[in-house]
Amino acid sequence: MSRYVIGVDLGTSAVKLLLVNRKGEVVEEVSKDYPLYHDEPGYSEQDPEDWVHETIAGLKELTDRLEDPSAIEGMSFSGQMHGLVLLGEDLKPLRKAILWNDTRTTAQCRQIEANVGLDKLHEITKNPALEGFTLPKLMWVKEHEKALFEKAKTFVLPKDYLRYRLTSEIHMDYSDAAGTLLLNIAKKKWSEEMCSMNGIPSILCPPLVPSHEQVGKITERIAEETGLPITCEVFAGGADNACGAIGAGILEEGVTLSSTGTSGVVLSYEETGDKDFAGKVHYFNHGEEAAFYTMGVTLAAGYSLSWFKDVFAKETLFEDLIREAEESSVGSKGLLFTPYIVGERTPHADATIRGSFIGAHAGHTRGDFTRSVIEGITFSLNETVETFRNKGKTINKVVAIGGGAKSALWLQIQADIYNAQVVTLKSEQGPGMGAAMLAAFGLGWYDSLKSCADDFVSESSVYEPIRENVERYAKLFKLYQKVYGATKELSGELAEYR
Ligand code: XUL
Repeated sequence: MSRYVIGVDLGTSAVKLLLVNRKGEVVEEVSKDYPLYHDEPGYSEQDPEDWVHETIAGLKELTDRLEDPSAIEGMSFSGQMHGLVLLGEDLKPLRKAILWNDTRTTAQCRQIEANVGLDKLHEITKNPALEGFTLPKLMWVKEHEKALFEKAKTFVLPKDYLRYRLTSEIHMDYSDAAGTLLLNIAKKKWSEEMCSMNGIPSILCPPLVPSHEQVGKITERIAEETGLPITCEVFAGGADNACGAIGAGILEEGVTLSSTGTSGVVLSYEETGDKDFAGKVHYFNHGEEAAFYTMGVTLAAGYSLSWFKDVFAKETLFEDLIREAEESSVGSKGLLFTPYIVGERTPHADATIRGSFIGAHAGHTRGDFTRSVIEGITFSLNETVETFRNKGKTINKVVAIGGGAKSALWLQIQADIYNAQVVTLKSEQGPGMGAAMLAAFGLGWYDSLKSCADDFVSESSVYEPIRENVERYAKLFKLYQKVYGATKELSGELAEYR
């Protein structure tokens, strides 16, 4: 008899549901969109009810396609990180969720640094105070919506709220709690110090669980509405980046992930939580128990390329645009792009910096511009690769997923800029697969996530770095690194014309 698990990936633009069989094959998939609200510049919010409504509709669509939905044994979640869902006494949201890409909290970030001091902040949370993280959002609500904050009973993150609505149980897993700035990463405990020093009652923090832990079953009402069996076991799940790592098999020291979605991520597995990256990269608990990962984020990775296409090549097919870029050469004939179109995270946590094309000349074609966008995004990701190497990490092999793994040109550029072997995956499903694997492991189908990955994840093509290109890019990367400092002030002065 067939047996299935469901991986739910609660993303920023859509919820994606994967129905995965015992062999790790995706047999059905459903995606449901929901809106983002940008009521003020820098604001980015979502209505948690939309997540619940669309997930229930998507689950119903999935079960309708199955002859025997009772074969669905378990379900788990991957979620967009950091989003604040503030719940009142009745556990209903007190306001819309404030998302990871909302940038209203710069003042609160500076306040956290002043309250805690950088050394202590890095010692406890291992991370910098960034606008996207949850603690500054809690502080913003406390300051700007005082009456509402006083009604709060607890707070959760997006996928935790969705899971709560399916099971009636409130929890948060370590990998997502790590992105709140309230967790002591190494000790895996809420930090009383971070709470008290920043004026947040620790009573607001929800119970913590490992990602593969069974946290309940779906309620009768949800079983009726979705067609799922009442026996379907629900596992906690993890942050989208942790689940992306699990889904790509990043489960041992020495393997690095390069993921290019809207934002881009370079992520590396860590066995311990006691290293000191001085807040330069993110350092979070993994979805695998007792493991960690370090990560750098390029805010506009795929987004830089889709922005470029929308503005300069709207009618052109994406494949044709890439073909034009193939006509260009290493270094885009002297054109350099920095992908700071919505600010940057790693290594420059700077919400105000803006992008630039440097070196444009009359001989440049659209192909050169396209290639320079791809190179600029990859240089930004390489800043993280370099930080890891400077800390003594060996990076010989990088697993590429996302948009950057769909083009041979971009894959070769990654191999040449990272100076590492770049591999793609046979069936790349992203964080939803990691969530499905957490359910498969939680159900006891496997004795570890690693053995599940050995079955579910396999490599496809390999791109080796080309020596001559590596050398040219290494020189160009040094120039790229100068652009931030050289344009910071200009970016600031241009702000009044935006
Ligand atoms: C990670 C981050 C993003 C979101 C996107 O720190 O902010 O990758 O998780 O969903």
